[in-house]
Amino acid sequence: MCGIVGGVAERSITNILIEGLKRLEYRGYDSAGLALVDHGQILRERRVGKVANLEQAVEESAIVGSLGIAHTRWATHGKPTENNAHPHISGRVAVVHNGIIENYQELKDDLEALGYNFTSQTDTEVVAHLVHEALKSTPDLLKAVEQVVPQLKGAYALGIVDTEYPDELIAVREGSPLVIGVGIGENFISSDQLALLPVTNRFIYLEEGDIARLTRETIEVFVNGQPVERPIKELDATISNATKGEFKHYMLKEIYEQPEAIQQTISQALNGNALRTDFLENAEVDFKNIKQVQIIACGTSYHAGMIGKYWFEQLSGLPCQVEIASEYRYRSPVIVADTLYVCISQSGETADTLAALRDTKKRAAEKGLNISTMTICNVATSSMVRETNHHLLTLAGPEIGVASTKAFTTQLAVLMLLILKIGQVKQAISPEKIEEITTEMWHTPKVILDTLQNDKEILRLSELFVEKQHCLFLGRGTEFPIALEGALKLKEISYIHAEGYAAGELKHGPLALVDNDMPVVILAPKDDMLDKLKSNMEEVQARGGELFVFADENSGIKNKDRQHVVNVPSVSTWLAPIIYSVPVQLLSYHVAVLRGTDVDQPRNLAKSVTVE
Ligand code: G6P
Repeated sequence: MCGIVGGVAERSITNILIEGLKRLEYRGYDSAGLALVDHGQILRERRVGKVANLEQAVEESAIVGSLGIAHTRWATHGKPTENNAHPHISGRVAVVHNGIIENYQELKDDLEALGYNFTSQTDTEVVAHLVHEALKSTPDLLKAVEQVVPQLKGAYALGIVDTEYPDELIAVREGSPLVIGVGIGENFISSDQLALLPVTNRFIYLEEGDIARLTRETIEVFVNGQPVERPIKELDATISNATKGEFKHYMLKEIYEQPEAIQQTISQALNGNALRTDFLENAEVDFKNIKQVQIIACGTSYHAGMIGKYWFEQLSGLPCQVEIASEYRYRSPVIVADTLYVCISQSGETADTLAALRDTKKRAAEKGLNISTMTICNVATSSMVRETNHHLLTLAGPEIGVASTKAFTTQLAVLMLLILKIGQVKQAISPEKIEEITTEMWHTPKVILDTLQNDKEILRLSELFVEKQHCLFLGRGTEFPIALEGALKLKEISYIHAEGYAAGELKHGPLALVDNDMPVVILAPKDDMLDKLKSNMEEVQARGGELFVFADENSGIKNKDRQHVVNVPSVSTWLAPIIYSVPVQLLSYHVAVLRGTDVDQPRNLAKSVTVE
């Protein structure tokens, strides 16, 4: 998704902007650009494709400047072309923008009537012209921006420079994330703090509606024209651990980081085999009263939520619904008092999940209903964490690969911890059960390590997928969401069409697709459903389908003609979804590598979807 980097310094910031853009590459984009203010001029370069193309152009033109803004664009309005790439310029003004200006057409008509010519198809260009127009009557850049912002409808973050103000950078946050990086004698902005880690570890997290004016020495933040204080936060050094190391791709590194990520995540909540007394203690009162749970999420996080539903209902006895945020927010769901609303999000910034949360809170307040909100998130400073009553962090470290891996399995670990806590508070889960599950949770890192031993075998099997066009994933119970997740992983990074199904649904449609060219991946832990699953496997084989089975080592499922079995260590039903995530991640990864796709940044996708 789009990324913003900007800065004002004494030195030339060209390389800082390029490095920042490179660090945002993981979010997904299709073009990039930057504009520098130098000796009363705006110097701009824009290129379609990778930041490396822009870097080369900048090296060739040798442009420098101590004030500038830069951007990676993920096309929403207008194709990914050089003309549509940011920054957009109107005379003396240059603008970069994340998000969407919903009323841009109306504004564009008015601006065209005033004589402005548009050189792009973007919604962003209206902002540049509006600021330019406002500067005719308001000889102050900040005031001009303050005049423009109320005219814009939508969710956005902006970085704005003006050749007449060569020491000022204006930043606006209205529905799209933006942070200020506080330097010494220099200051920066970015849509993601990761971009600024080479220059600072001190950040100000702007809030919705904030407009900031940065100079080399000062940072002022305003709300409705009035100055406000925003604290500076120092970032934990471990968060900067975002390099590929010895691994070929971030995704592979992140798959291998799962044992440690789970270990870290559960350590925050467990003391031996008991829940720590201080774990979520502020939430205990709310937990006592809740009568049901509503989970809201998108993508892979939604699949984690689906597993949460099984667990919530089986373990704590609480009714639990789970829904995709983009559906939930638009279908006028009934808000019920004493519900715990749980947002699951790696980034904490996904536009639909955030909007669903805000709508829910608003509607509950309007009706005077008592609800509780919680975020399960990998980014401690994110909007969702800030806007919910409680939060639980997945301590997975930065996840760079677009396809979520370690964030997913740590979300599952956190969901289990949450359920145990609620079950304990409501006395719905016995201390013995809590001890049994937490004991197993401590074993998870080791079991994942053992499962990773299958990597070479999975690589060998993945060769059989390279030429395929379609693939089915089947599972039952909590392996059904893993089947969906496996299919999502395979399609997003290898571009093979894949579907996940509850194995019991096979006869209701997907069986019609099965022939000798259709690989069918089966998730077969040793649980109560194993015999039924074996019958489903027979049904596939009888139609000539080729089976790839990730099976419990004690399942009795063996290799045979057109049935390839990878043995997975025996685990309890509770941990099975975490463990079975690993082979499906490895399978998708290897198939994608063999097909030569861009594994970490698959086409058309973004890591953090901050627009609808
Ligand atoms: C994008 C990412 C997915 C992610 C989804 C939800 O589609 O590519 O990996 O699962 O957004 O993101 P979130 O940050 O809310 O978990």
